[in-house]
Amino acid sequence: MESSMKPLSSDYSYYLKTFKLFLERSTEHQCLQKFIDENLPDIVTRAYLNSSKCSGAAEQQLSRDRVGDAHNYPSAFSMLPEDHPLGTRRPAKFEPNVLGIGSGSGKIDFEILHKIQSKHPSLSIHDEVVEPNPEQISSYQARVKDESQGLNISSTWNQMSSEEYEKQVKERNESKKFDLIHMIQVLYYVQSVHDSIKFLHSLLESNGKLLIVYVSDGSGWHSLWKTFGSRFTSSSLFLEVRKLLDEMRMKYQIHELSSDLDITECFIEGNENGELLLDFLTEVMHFSKTAPAALKTEVLQYLRQPQCSREEDGKVIFNNTLQVIVIDC
Ligand SMILES: C[S@@+](CC[C@H](N)C(=O)[O-])C[C@H]1O[C@@H](n2cnc3c(N)ncnc32)[C@H](O)[C@@H]1O
Repeated sequence: MESSMKPLSSDYSYYLKTFKLFLERSTEHQCLQKFIDENLPDIVTRAYLNSSKCSGAAEQQLSRDRVGDAHNYPSAFSMLPEDHPLGTRRPAKFEPNVLGIGSGSGKIDFEILHKIQSKHPSLSIHDEVVEPNPEQISSYQARVKDESQGLNISSTWNQMSSEEYEKQVKERNESKKFDLIHMIQVLYYVQSVHDSIKFLHSLLESNGKLLIVYVSDGSGWHSLWKTFGSRFTSSSLFLEVRKLLDEMRMKYQIHELSSDLDITECFIEGNENGELLLDFLTEVMHFSKTAPAALKTEVLQYLRQPQCSREEDGKVIFNNTLQVIVIDC
């Protein structure tokens, strides 16, 4: 670490300001929305249908929901033979449990819940939220109040970090399991990626799914952090997640999502938005003012390189490609 640079995560409100601008200048939420629309129903349906909680009655319930929408689930439903063993299990009413880690204002979480509910209206979904930022939890609660009419979703709020949640679950000796756990753009902030994944994986219902969204190895983020991470305030954005999952012998599938971030303003000296975007890219508060001059110059030059960006219509477009890692139970 050089000079007086402070991590962006040391100030919740300031972090949020930079994150909101990042969302305005990027296609991040749009590409996640597309993934939710096109890929999530199949992933979730397979998890539920194979779940040990899924009784014959629940299966019929899911099948009823699916009437008129058969083309969306061709394999998940039509492949089940009539004497499928799921039909012999008879536990209680089927109510999927969803856990969101680092949910932010719930924009994407709620899209996920909405999607599941719209595909399976008769399901009653329980959503557990873990988010340390109080401003974000309040925004999520306001969203639920405004947007949950007609939906059959109940929520539990945990204003705490993933590590605090783990401690709480262990202290209370809780045995609750989840059908879907998601951690969207959060892995950079946890104390130990290995321990977090191991813990969350242990909370999966049989055949549940752990969905992690993370920057892709081919993204500008990966190149930037591989080159400069050790000179910022943390090196957390350069992680070899796939290698780690292989070492942990996890079974997973990866979906790459193409996404852009317009960083043109970063190259306009003194531009406030440009400075906020630089803060978000480097995870350093007031990077332009607190980074050593040489580091700032090198970073700005590097951001224009093809490993990070392309020029288009006079704009500098940073490669924000994401990967969605779907880990099996
Ligand atoms: C990049 S934002 C992503 C928010 C949301 N998932 C989205 O994609 O819009 C990262 C979120 O992780 C939260 N966070 C930071 N450290 C965390 C931790 N140790 N455990 C859980 N969440 C954390 C932040 O408060 C923030 O809301």
